[in-house]
Amino acid sequence: MSLKNRAALATRVIHSGQEPDPVTGAVVPPLYTATTYVQDGIGKNRGYDYSRSGNPTRLRVESCLADLENANAAFVFPSGLSAASTMLATLKPGARIVAHEDLYGGVYRLLAQVGPVMSGFQVDLVDFCDTEALASAAQGADLLWFETPSNPLLKIVDLQAVSTIAREVGAVSVCDSTFASPCGQLPLDFGIDVVMHSATKFLGGHSDLLGGVLAVSEGAPDGLADRIGYLQNALGAVMCPSDCALLLRSLRTLALRVERQSASAAFLAQTLETRSEEFGIAEVIYPGLSSHPGHAIAVQQMANFGALISLRLVGVKDRVERVLTGTHLFHFAVSLGSVESLIQHPASLTHAAVAESHREKISIGNDLIRLSVGCEDAGDLLADLEAALLAH
Ligand SMILES: Cc1ncc(COP(=O)(O)O)c(C=O)c1O
Repeated sequence: MSLKNRAALATRVIHSGQEPDPVTGAVVPPLYTATTYVQDGIGKNRGYDYSRSGNPTRLRVESCLADLENANAAFVFPSGLSAASTMLATLKPGARIVAHEDLYGGVYRLLAQVGPVMSGFQVDLVDFCDTEALASAAQGADLLWFETPSNPLLKIVDLQAVSTIAREVGAVSVCDSTFASPCGQLPLDFGIDVVMHSATKFLGGHSDLLGGVLAVSEGAPDGLADRIGYLQNALGAVMCPSDCALLLRSLRTLALRVERQSASAAFLAQTLETRSEEFGIAEVIYPGLSSHPGHAIAVQQMANFGALISLRLVGVKDRVERVLTGTHLFHFAVSLGSVESLIQHPASLTHAAVAESHREKISIGNDLIRLSVGCEDAGDLLADLEAALLAH
């Protein structure tokens, strides 16, 4: 990402879709809670008839997100999973989906367990970091679905390689960019068709709203954005206006928050790796570390390395639980990307829905913990982790 784009993004989070209200001059866009709109005659209105089909507050946040992702159009949903379900509803029954093997547990459940039963989808899980394996698995696929960085192993998938393969086989590519946010990477710039987010994470940033986003590239197959907009209304998968206003408010500080969070995460990851023996850590997983297998690709496609760190601890389960419950600033809770730091245990929480055999295959074991670094002082966060890791 060029410096020019980065600077523009820090400005756009504050101004895109957030022009002062033309009626009153209010610098914060008004929140429209009305569910219905007066019609001026048959087929004559002022752009709105019913709030599920269109709402001025929702339009503002959607236009901001489309701008941030360099997308043609963006749509907001009541949760990340609702965004994902709406994307899947664009497929024909029996469609073939090739998905990355490391995915958030809820998305895995939707793809591997719900999709085949409800829609007859055939789903294959492959390691998207292995481009040759992906190219061969992608033959005949309708959809390629992946996360980068992935949850919880923080694998880095080469965006350009996936978009090239998707074009070659005629599949739609979807990147769940939740862990990066638009301040970390812009997948559409690499030829990906659709970006998905759980807006519950960095975009919302305060652990007080659930939301999801689909942003569609100009280069996506004809009609895809219109189809998603149609399904958003037809399935009723809309974010409520007060959450749209809250999300728009949160986006104004997105660049500041992500800059602070990723800088602190880089400092913590480096320190934990340097002192891993003393801290009883077998592995520090963070894309910004030169020891990370995807580091070189991350350098090429990311503006920063994000705020998530995964650790493999040395020791038995009791120690893992002691660390999880031993921090004071890092709350032991699921979710991520918020101003407060969080620590969690993927095998028993976010990835409990993943088949045990699959968890074993990709090494999501009991020894793995995931940190989401917030906006607190980095020195305080280190002291908090230090006390929990060194406790006997
Ligand atoms: C990478 C990723 N995608 C999607 C989701 C689902 O989002 P939501 O919880 O908003 O439905 C999550 C939730 O943790 C996630 O981590």
